Amino acid sequence: MKVFNKKRDLEKLIRSIKKENKTIGLVPTMGALHKGHLSLVKKALADNDEVFVSIFVNPTQFNNKNDLLKYPRTLEKDLDHLKTVDKKIIVFAPSIDDIYDDNVNATQFNFGGLEFEMEGEFREGHFNGVGTIVKELLHIVKPNNAYFGEKDFQQLQIIKKLVENFNIPVKIIGCKIHREPNGLAMSSRNIRLKPNYKKAAPFIHKTLKTAKLKFGTKSAAHVTKWVNKQFADHDLLKLEYFRIANVDTLKEVKRKSKNKKYRAFIAVYADDVRLIDNIALN
Ligand code: PAJ
Repeated sequence: MKVFNKKRDLEKLIRSIKKENKTIGLVPTMGALHKGHLSLVKKALADNDEVFVSIFVNPTQFNNKNDLLKYPRTLEKDLDHLKTVDKKIIVFAPSIDDIYDDNVNATQFNFGGLEFEMEGEFREGHFNGVGTIVKELLHIVKPNNAYFGEKDFQQLQIIKKLVENFNIPVKIIGCKIHREPNGLAMSSRNIRLKPNYKKAAPFIHKTLKTAKLKFGTKSAAHVTKWVNKQFADHDLLKLEYFRIANVDTLKEVKRKSKNKKYRAFIAVYADDVRLIDNIALN
């Protein structure tokens, strides 16, 4: 399997692939790969001639220093996982210097307000960091298709907006959330959960599923209140936010409308591990 650490070396390869008129799929990741990531990689392999997986813990999207420090870095294991999927995958694992030179700062973007909701509200500047690295990766790899998980639904919507704003010629493909058999959404952060928190964490998806059922007959405000109560009564999990929002604007729904699509979004602390999840409501 080819592994590149420098964008300059990669750019040569991209040029030769483009010359042969082959299609390129890109799966951007921060590593600590799990089956959720691999499901994106498999989709990319099915759709494209060549598949690139980037592995880069992007410092500018972390608003919390501790989270960045503790973010799992498991490159050798990640490469082993990817090899078992397909040896033709090309990995791009650059250093911070290679991406940012000596200016480790995010560009300021305007995502039409999507960036101020939910994750943007609780992780200030987060989406400027995400936008900065994804724009750069799209520039380096020049993929025909790029794959993002619905696990980070707000991120997916923001990347679509980024591509639209800058007229980047790439198709952004959203992929379903991959879950543990107990319902917990797979996440690189899950390996940091202590046993009792790991046991408690499936409560998040269970609550989302019940919220979805309730939303069939009750108002968003009623369901939101109910979810808040479930977590207020919980010994281990601390709710940061629960929102029912319009999928296009990501604004909290005040009154339900039949022809609009809604999703419920949640962020929860399990000790010092922050977990997010979401579910389609209609
Ligand atoms: P990371 O958290 O490593 O996730 C990489 C991609 O995998 C994202 O598109 C994410 O939504 C997807 N993913 C994660 N868990 C998933 C699951 N359980 N099911 C389906 N897809 C899942 O998201 C990032 O990295 C970064 O912000 C990045 C886009 C790479 C920019 O740095």
